[in-house]
Amino acid sequence: MKNMLGRVVLITGGSKGIGRETAKRFAQSQAQVIITGRRREELEKTAAEINAQFGKCDFFPGDVTSIPDCRRIIEAVLEKYHRLDVLINNAGMSMRGLFAETDLDLFRKIVDINFLGAVHMTKFALPALIESQGSVVFVSSLSGLKGLPGIAPYGTAKMALTGFSESLRAEIDHYHVHVGIVYVGFTENDVDKTIYSASGEQVPFRRDKNDDTQEHVAQILYRLVEKRRAVVYLTPLGKVTQFVYRIFPKLSGFLLRKYALKSGRYGK
Ligand SMILES: NC(=O)c1ccc[n+]([C@@H]2O[C@H](COP(=O)([O-])OP(=O)(O)OC[C@H]3O[C@@H](n4cnc5c(N)ncnc54)[C@H](OP(=O)(O)O)[C@@H]3O)[C@@H](O)[C@H]2O)c1
Repeated sequence: MKNMLGRVVLITGGSKGIGRETAKRFAQSQAQVIITGRRREELEKTAAEINAQFGKCDFFPGDVTSIPDCRRIIEAVLEKYHRLDVLINNAGMSMRGLFAETDLDLFRKIVDINFLGAVHMTKFALPALIESQGSVVFVSSLSGLKGLPGIAPYGTAKMALTGFSESLRAEIDHYHVHVGIVYVGFTENDVDKTIYSASGEQVPFRRDKNDDTQEHVAQILYRLVEKRRAVVYLTPLGKVTQFVYRIFPKLSGFLLRKYALKSGRYGK
């Protein structure tokens, strides 16, 4: 596959999980991939793995919640590669906890990572994406479709991505820049995955049952960019709920809340 030959693709949160699989997928298609994340050693490990197996992967460490870091990353990409074709805003962290027990600093942190991080990166990348008539992609969640219990800050941040992506699309469509958003369902996680507790501690996260694989989500993200699709909903649950929501908004909210509580995947 040579579809992405000569293209420069930047993936935030590319050291682990869905971001790492997405980096592999683009590298397989001969893109020059660049991954970001806070931990240099994780980035080094993933970049080495991709370079050994698939192709070209570089990395620039940084925190998407830091405006100077985001500016520095984009400047570094443009200085070294002279163009940017695709920005995938994937970096994200989840949490579990009822709002009444959620520390307000944690609320802000979750919104910073999952929403403002994408805004910061998009802001600095935009001139280069306009020049390349490229793509900007947002990795959202099914919890960005409808409010669910136990993850108010995360759901709020993911819903904000919807609003931002729609405004952005309306503003830059005439530059032929593609704006895409993917609503991801329960996807297998790395064994060392962590999320935040309501009090703001990073805690290990395991889920017994998943509805999707990282490879499949990566393939969907690749196809979204290739076909310049605006919106994709993942997993049967996601497809059904977004469809029912449009026709029966109250019923879908009721069913989603019931499912979430019954599954034990949210809240306490
Ligand atoms: N897995 C699921 O079931 C699921 C479901 C719906 C949506 N999603 C969304 O899919 C995306 C990827 O999820 P995942 O489960 O693959 O995540 P993950 O395995 O926990 O990996 C998160 C990635 O983001 C990076 N990251 C975290 N905070 C960051 C920050 N402040 N600045 C820069 N990088 C940061 C991490 O690297 P460092 O820690 O080194 O910074 C890591 O590379 C997220 O946006 C998530 O919300 C996932």
